[in-house]
Amino acid sequence: MSSLLHIDSSVRAANNPNPDHDSISKTIALRFIDTWKRNQPADEYIYRDVGMNPPDFITQDWIDAVFTPDEKRTPAQKERLSLSDKLIAEVSAADVILISSPMYNYGMPAQLKAWFDQIVRINKTFDFDLSRGDFPLKPLLSGKTLIIVTSSGEFGFEKGGIREDSSHLTPHLQTLSKYLGADTVYEIASEYQEFGDERHRISVANAKNRAEIIASELSIPTRASTLKDEVLNVRSYY
Ligand SMILES: Cc1cc2nc3c(=O)[nH]c(=O)nc-3n(C[C@H](O)[C@H](O)[C@H](O)COP(=O)(O)O)c2cc1C
Repeated sequence: MSSLLHIDSSVRAANNPNPDHDSISKTIALRFIDTWKRNQPADEYIYRDVGMNPPDFITQDWIDAVFTPDEKRTPAQKERLSLSDKLIAEVSAADVILISSPMYNYGMPAQLKAWFDQIVRINKTFDFDLSRGDFPLKPLLSGKTLIIVTSSGEFGFEKGGIREDSSHLTPHLQTLSKYLGADTVYEIASEYQEFGDERHRISVANAKNRAEIIASELSIPTRASTLKDEVLNVRSYY
């Protein structure tokens, strides 16, 4: 049995009275989750919509509490860190983490960044030792698989793409993935939303299909040998 943590971060709902307003990233993520649950109904599943229920921003008091040794923390400091403790516990317990994110202003939504700020925490998800020279931070979690689902209005954010220089969403999530303990990362990207044309329809359809393939591979390990090459060799962008 595995544990699956699902984080959505669009401020839009997956289902709206006008379907044109439905979140694309959430809809693609749902395809992954539906496939997973069909294959592994007994798995633990934790869901957070940080787009609609954003975690608090960290504050100076939060940092003070983090750098106060455990045994010296006041009840107020413990309370201040309680959300962080809970979010970190959810990440620690997960075998597979699915994060869906819209591209806002070429990066992730502030709400998702707030979630990471609560989680990337000294002596919890990384430790710090200057004897390591220029790389004093070491992630503490490992062994997890991360699936990143993104949706953007423009296109060409992949390596060599026409907007590679403005690509601050997936590269940022990739950088942070090691603090979640992700050793394996899959990317699923839908693009062209602002164009609303055939390229967009194809991009969404391909992303949903890829979500289903990856969910199948990860949730039915015996199929991995046949699907592995196909999945791993497909670039994340279409
Ligand atoms: C506030 C805001 C900022 C956006 N910034 C960008 C951007 O910088 N680049 C881009 O390609 N699309 C941008 N978009 C378009 C979204 O990425 C696109 O609509 C995406 O589908 C949103 O994800 P969702 O459908 O899951 O809500 C922006 C949309 C909003 C609402």
